[in-house]
Amino acid sequence: MSSSDKKSIAVIGAGTMGRGIAQVFAQARYDVYLHDAFPEALTAATGQIGKLLDKAVDKGKMSAADAAAVKERIRPVKSLGDVGSHPLVIEAATEKLDIKIEILKKAQTHVADSGILATNTSSISITQLAAATDHPDRFVGMHFFNPVPVMKLVEVVRGLQTSDDTVVRTVALAEEVGKTPVCCNDHPGFVSNRVLMPMINEAIFTLQDGVAEPEAIDNIMKLGMAHPMGPLALADLIGLDVCLDILEVLHRDLGEDRYRPCPLLRKMVLAGRLGRKSKKGFYPYD
Ligand code: CAA
Repeated sequence: MSSSDKKSIAVIGAGTMGRGIAQVFAQARYDVYLHDAFPEALTAATGQIGKLLDKAVDKGKMSAADAAAVKERIRPVKSLGDVGSHPLVIEAATEKLDIKIEILKKAQTHVADSGILATNTSSISITQLAAATDHPDRFVGMHFFNPVPVMKLVEVVRGLQTSDDTVVRTVALAEEVGKTPVCCNDHPGFVSNRVLMPMINEAIFTLQDGVAEPEAIDNIMKLGMAHPMGPLALADLIGLDVCLDILEVLHRDLGEDRYRPCPLLRKMVLAGRLGRKSKKGFYPYD
């Protein structure tokens, strides 16, 4: 910990997932050192977290003093070298193997003695990432779900080298911040995305085949299957580039045609229609 009586954590990456993870830990009274290589991402992250906390105050779900204290506990850090040393460091950067390995090699120097280095990857092999670190037994997948402050699940993913002790401590940490951890073994897509992504991909094939308009596809899944949102709206929320990345991992590593990304998904990504974050996906966003 950065000081003996305080709980602290470092989060590397201030995108959608990193900022959500930062908020959840700050709400659980952790001092959060939030780093991103792009200073504008840090500004956007603290701005968005601030807005969500203000909304919670307006709705009477949090006191103004508590919201101010949560904001105070999130410290944006421009240089990775300045994040300090913490019992838990969570990497939530871009979903690209080379970039993750590069970041993890640096991030591991900020893990306190016997601390845990975790990755929020949604599909990259935990075993492979662990192998690039100095303490693979203390490396684990801590997979949060979007929107992080709302979704209860943390998928705790165990690489081949992850120790029992690391899994037990990760489960305890997830519970401490109010999440429900569920453990699984490292395998392409883990459980969540191995099951979710083929559904999203099939919804995109259904659209491509002209079976129905996006609203109809989503309404059928919402009203008929009691999903909180339809698969196309969910793809827009996750990010179409992220969906494509995950499907490519499933297709390549599981080697089966059923995971082949839909050509329409590829086209949308090439066109820069990435969903909510680019203000256009299967739906427009203001
Ligand atoms: N950040 C923080 N809070 C948010 C939010 C966000 N981006 N979006 C909504 N919320 C909050 C709202 O403020 C609201 O809070 P209160 O109950 O305290 O008022 C609550 O969530 C409900 O929101 P809304 O009333 O606006 O809308 P809703 O009832 O339709 O719920 C939803 C929105 C929570 C997103 C819901 O539609 C849902 O659960 N959708 C499914 C999301 C899902 O499946 N996520 C997993 C994606 S997969 C992933 O992330 C991992 C991966 O590897 C790809």
